[in-house]
Amino acid sequence: MVLSSILLKAASSKVFSRAAYLPSCLRWMSNVPENSVYGGPKPQNPDHRVTLTHLRQKHRRSEPITMVTAYDYPSAVHVDEVGIDICLVGDSASMVVHGHDTTLPITLDEMLVHCRAVARGAKRPLLVGDLPFGTYESSSQQAIDTAVRVLKEGSMDAIKLEGGVPSRIAAAKAIVEAGIAVMGHVGLTPQAISVLGGFRPQGRNVASAIKVVEAALALQEVGCFSVVLECVPAPVAAAATSVLRIPTIGIGAGPFCSGQVLVYHDLLGMMQHPHHAKVTPKFCKQFGHIGEAINKALSQYKEEVTNRSFPSAAHTTYKISQDDFNGFTNELQKLGLDKAASAAAAAAEKNS
Ligand code: KIV
Repeated sequence: MVLSSILLKAASSKVFSRAAYLPSCLRWMSNVPENSVYGGPKPQNPDHRVTLTHLRQKHRRSEPITMVTAYDYPSAVHVDEVGIDICLVGDSASMVVHGHDTTLPITLDEMLVHCRAVARGAKRPLLVGDLPFGTYESSSQQAIDTAVRVLKEGSMDAIKLEGGVPSRIAAAKAIVEAGIAVMGHVGLTPQAISVLGGFRPQGRNVASAIKVVEAALALQEVGCFSVVLECVPAPVAAAATSVLRIPTIGIGAGPFCSGQVLVYHDLLGMMQHPHHAKVTPKFCKQFGHIGEAINKALSQYKEEVTNRSFPSAAHTTYKISQDDFNGFTNELQKLGLDKAASAAAAAAEKNS
């Protein structure tokens, strides 16, 4: 029976409703690789996905919401495995993945590649994709078009956009009305460093602090489900958090937010390179020193390849039967490839 008829039969049986069964089944099949050489993570139950409802429940219970960035399949799998609530495909990819000095250069097409890879790896967290600089500021229509691409082509659940000026509030409203969940982002908005005069904390005087709270409130009023507060003093973040009905997610904003977010590479202590040391924010706690571990492993690999201790017999896995080996070396000799036959014999001897 062909595959599609098996699926249709299963879907039309009493046990499975078509809507509930078919899509997850298809995803399951496309996700599982042939297991002869490589393994792969098992797909998770789609019922366990974090949704806005889960986040609202956590927020109502005053349980901190966890959020981390990811940019590719392996980082997404790690974020998923430890049960982080929200996985952000941040435009910080521009800096930590592509090596730019700011978030400005990354394009929508580049972001979509990151989004798709993360969506393949993270099955449980709510997936939020950043709208990159230059793809949503011109008009609300442009903002909707970009947001739609992030969901349709990037497989994200929601988008994030930066800023609290009226045109940005209007864009957030239009995107929500188009049926897409929006996370706001105020305080230090790295896409605006040109007007902010660099990566500068915000909300440090009366006018600026009020602006942060008002922008967060305006984003809530147009339907954002959450707001990131970046690099603002803790009392300003506390004020915004207490006045909002939606959760705040802090980064460099102290402990009084409804949740916290950090950049994956920063929190893991991933980069030893001076370029990254330069851009790792002061507020970031390094929860690991993964960069050191990576450097150590790479140096050891280089050393073992150079001194020929890798691969040893333990990592030379694929065998050929004695009969096939004899046939192979005979064929080589018939082809006049005596040197190749001797090399094969010497290797078999050494590896036995
Ligand atoms: O791009 C990003 O990683 C972000 C977080 C810092 C919130 O916007």
